[in-house]
Amino acid sequence: MQRQLFVTTALPYANAAFHIGHMMEYIQADIWVRFQRMQGHTVRFVCADDAHGAPIMIAAEKAGLTPQAFVAQIAAGRQAYLDGFHIAFDHWHSTDAPENHALAQDIYRALRAEGLITERVIEQFFDPQKGMFLPDRFIKGECPRCGTADQYGDNCENCGAVYLPTDLKNPYSALSGATPVLKESRHYFFQLSHPRAVEFLQGWTQTPGRLQPEVLNKISEWFALGDDGKPMLADWDISRDAPYFGIRIPDTEDKYFYVWLDAPIGYLASLKALLGAEFEPFLADPRTEQVHFIGKDIVTFHTLFWPAMLHFSGRKVPNHIHVHGFITVSGTKMSKSRGTGISPLRYLELGLNAEWLRYYIAAKLSARVDDIDFNPEDFIARVNSDLVGKFVNIASRAAGFLNKRFDGRLAGHSQAPGADEGRALLAQLRESGDGIAQLLDGREYGKALRDTMALADKVNAYVDQHKPWELAKKPELSAQLHDVCSTCIEAFRVLSVYLKPVLPALVERVERFLGVAPLQWADAQQALGQHRIGAYEHLMQRADAAQVAKLFEAPADAAPPAAPEPALPGGQALAPTIGIDDFSKIDLRLARIVKAETVEGSSKLLRLTLDVGEGRTRNVFSGIRSAYQPEQLQGKMTLMVANLAPRTMKFGVSEGMVLAASHADEKAVPGLYVLEPWPGAQPGMRVR
Ligand code: MSP
Ligand code: ZN
Repeated sequence: MQRQLFVTTALPYANAAFHIGHMMEYIQADIWVRFQRMQGHTVRFVCADDAHGAPIMIAAEKAGLTPQAFVAQIAAGRQAYLDGFHIAFDHWHSTDAPENHALAQDIYRALRAEGLITERVIEQFFDPQKGMFLPDRFIKGECPRCGTADQYGDNCENCGAVYLPTDLKNPYSALSGATPVLKESRHYFFQLSHPRAVEFLQGWTQTPGRLQPEVLNKISEWFALGDDGKPMLADWDISRDAPYFGIRIPDTEDKYFYVWLDAPIGYLASLKALLGAEFEPFLADPRTEQVHFIGKDIVTFHTLFWPAMLHFSGRKVPNHIHVHGFITVSGTKMSKSRGTGISPLRYLELGLNAEWLRYYIAAKLSARVDDIDFNPEDFIARVNSDLVGKFVNIASRAAGFLNKRFDGRLAGHSQAPGADEGRALLAQLRESGDGIAQLLDGREYGKALRDTMALADKVNAYVDQHKPWELAKKPELSAQLHDVCSTCIEAFRVLSVYLKPVLPALVERVERFLGVAPLQWADAQQALGQHRIGAYEHLMQRADAAQVAKLFEAPADAAPPAAPEPALPGGQALAPTIGIDDFSKIDLRLARIVKAETVEGSSKLLRLTLDVGEGRTRNVFSGIRSAYQPEQLQGKMTLMVANLAPRTMKFGVSEGMVLAASHADEKAVPGLYVLEPWPGAQPGMRVR
């Protein structure tokens, strides 16, 4: 039966770049989505930035930006990671987008109409200097139990005591240092303790297939009865006072939804932005399965608050919550604030293959909530032995003979002696398909890959046994050679199908090499017959220890360890550190723009005639037409790279490059700016 799936990953806070934990979650979900698509199922796979909340508001203020500009800068950096690691989201949205404002307010109104919203006046710490209520993590003081100074408002790092912020001794605001005062405020609560809510949640959580056993076990605590004979489940405070970066609560002037109320609604907002008018029918369709991939730290929000919000606002509830554990790096937990661990962007910049990481993470994942570890030696060994040694090797061993001796054509149904053996091997590979499919569907990726590699071992054993390189020496054994190599290519194709969800880019190259249409899961069951393959292109490099070691080198000018993660300047991480020698290779010179003209046939380029003080002029094409009219530039001084090798373009030779500044994501943050020296500078002067 064809499935219709709505799949999400958790919405990352828009206050920092992605770390490897985020990538692990996206890779886990992406593999699942790609597998479902290969089965012919329909999948809508979305995510978004989680933009709201006090921490982001405060971080933006520190950066001297509006919260909107701050989160836009973070958002602009996302695509590089997603593309780099082949994450196939259909859409990436923001919880601050209009769809989310509207949906959050709708859902709230529906909950209120159900009689499940109550108001209560509570006392909270207020920073009189900043004029705002303080979230727990911005209140510090001495631990009420052991007296340790500078402890957060909710627990003590020294003795582990858990308490309320009002219990702290000598409390102070982490924002201003001022002594907070207790102040009353009216808050809105979602009544999860209401018998209707408790009953619904018990039913929802216990529906078979919803939750992993260990997750169900964990949250069952909430339904245990307290001293008063009622479940522990408490009403949930969903409001925050202004100033707050969030969504205004309807019919209030200065109350906002707590970020965790509107965050999961962002799943729907992103889907709505993707589907437009199709959104409501798709979501309400009983065939649609709603699946959320999340980490173990945000289970309560997704298994109690979120389903209750959906149910009591008259919407369909999530079908499955898939919870994963945390990834550590060489056994160390990474700290959000200190940013230890390895940077996914640095991984890409170093030229490490994204699919090595996809494969390695997949090989370690199961359907359980266990943590996994990235260990560099283990990583190199696994990738090299499995991907290069076992998988890619099969094709490289067989393709050469086929192309050289048989014009690239497969044998089809071979009559050669021993051909039955090859057929038996292929039959075995095909029979394993259903089992592997079940494992992938059940998120048992580690097992699926182990089974797939066991099949690859069998194929390699078959090659070793039949020794095509020996067969190739004897012309009378040509039919056997043809059969053995054809079997290898068929086997390789079957294995490629099984690995495609994990290795989409590699298998795309395989498809090109084999000359076949994009592989679907069912393709494993068919033979190619006397198909003609293309030339073998090298499919994958071995992972190199020295290269991987670079991942762990601290950048030369790393920020002091305790500093918060910097926002990405200009939407882009800084390039790796270079020495002065590298810099001095680039000859930057001041140039006078003698003439600027449009270029016929190009909407992007201007033709510049530049004087760099050489006694002749240079011709340079520059992609700045969108930002400048020729007459604005004529006569001005600017900056160019003067020793760039001349480049022949469609319109002529370009003898250098004029520099211009822009944001990494020119669509999100438009603008392109050429540079101009201060008055008095002369053409030909070097910039150093
Ligand atoms: N903004 C919330 C989620 C809102 S969902 C409606 C949030 N953001 S987060 O950026 O802190 O985390 C995003 C996801 O990354 C979560 O699922 C979290 O569990 C996951 N991970 C964060 N650190 C992780 C690891 N070290 N390992 C694996 N996943 C981890 O929570
Ligand atoms: Zn203490």
